Amino acid sequence: MKKGLLSAAVLSITCSSTVFAHGSCDTELHGYMQNIKDEMRAMSSDVKSGDNQSAVKHVDSLISYFEKSRSETPHKFIHDDLKGAELKSQNAEYQKVVDGTIVVLKDLERALQSGDSSKVRELFGAMGEQRKLGHSSFKDC
Ligand code: HEM
Repeated sequence: MKKGLLSAAVLSITCSSTVFAHGSCDTELHGYMQNIKDEMRAMSSDVKSGDNQSAVKHVDSLISYFEKSRSETPHKFIHDDLKGAELKSQNAEYQKVVDGTIVVLKDLERALQSGDSSKVRELFGAMGEQRKLGHSSFKDC
């Protein structure tokens, strides 16, 4: 993949907004997300320098941060005062998107191991889509 294109893709995936819709949130999930951002950047820099072996290790860390994130409740649900059945169903929606993201990461791991760079590029795009979906649906800080 062209380096410029990869950098642009990664920038758009990891770039975080400095505008907070409802103030900043100091949640466990926010901390995991910061780690996810750092791991994404480290992984992409490994891919750029051709070190797929090291990139795979960052993908493993990403999977484990998403697994931890799965058991957290987004700040938005608390802010919106969701309770009972509604909280349960929104949580299930949130977990579905996290699970989909983990599937993309497992595919990415395989593509890195087999050196399939066009698949790697496609899966970087898919990660960007997961981020967009997750943030537009569940992030308010
Ligand atoms: C490449 C993928 C992702 C990256 C790099 C990423 C990065 C971040 C960052 C840096 C924040 C902190 C706030 C900010 O500065 O904007 C954040 C917050 C958040 N992200 Fe992600 N994220 C990713 C994917 C996802 C996915 C897939 C979901 C949901 C399934 C998600 C849900 C959230 C939520 C809910 C918050 C707000 C924290 C809270 O409610 O406590 N993110 N993310």
